[in-house]
Amino acid sequence: MKYKIIKKNKIYRLLNTNPLLLISTVSKDKKHNIAPIAWVCPQELKPARLLFCIDTGHKTFENIRKTKKFVASIPHISQVNLVKKAGSISGKLIDKFFYLKIKSQINKKTGCKIPEGVIGYMECVIKKIFILDGTAIVISDITNAYADKKAFDGERLLAEKQKGKAIHHLGKNNFITYSNKIFLSFLFNNFLFL
Ligand SMILES: Cc1cc2nc3c(=O)[nH]c(=O)nc-3n(C[C@H](O)[C@H](O)[C@H](O)COP(=O)(O)O)c2cc1C
Repeated sequence: MKYKIIKKNKIYRLLNTNPLLLISTVSKDKKHNIAPIAWVCPQELKPARLLFCIDTGHKTFENIRKTKKFVASIPHISQVNLVKKAGSISGKLIDKFFYLKIKSQINKKTGCKIPEGVIGYMECVIKKIFILDGTAIVISDITNAYADKKAFDGERLLAEKQKGKAIHHLGKNNFITYSNKIFLSFLFNNFLFL
């Protein structure tokens, strides 16, 4: 798949629909890992920032706390099986890329693996971590973001088109993707840029 870089001021639009993400990390001793995270949203427009909530017991959290970097990919709805499997076992126990046969390429900036076939991906650097009980709120700068040009037209995610269908988790084995776009043509929209 050919990915196109997204303009910095449009990166948040990859996240506006709160798509489930696959977070790829690498440990200090170069072991790669990946896990799905559904509790996700944009935190800032400029610089573009990502916020997600993660259990502090996850291998993913251990890696990002130590290395301060990761790749957040937006899987396509056709990858829902992979998402479920990657979220059903910890990287503390297995190499998920190997056992789940996840084809990937290494991202040069972060050293993390990007799974093949995702809608897009974001290179992230940790900005701040808040921990409350057993959950961390992780806020990261998105240094660069890329997307399939058939899924993101430079302005927004084409969630109404097949290539732009991201994953949303309803709970347990239930997932959903968005369908119809609604366009409002009235005028009272010039004070908001979202
Ligand atoms: C669909 C789905 C969504 C998930 N969303 C989250 C989430 O938002 N936050 C979280 O802490 N864990 C979430 N999980 C659980 C982790 O992905 C799971 O515990 C995973 O095995 C952690 O792997 P790790 O230890 O290799 O990091 C989710 C799991 C699934 C299947």
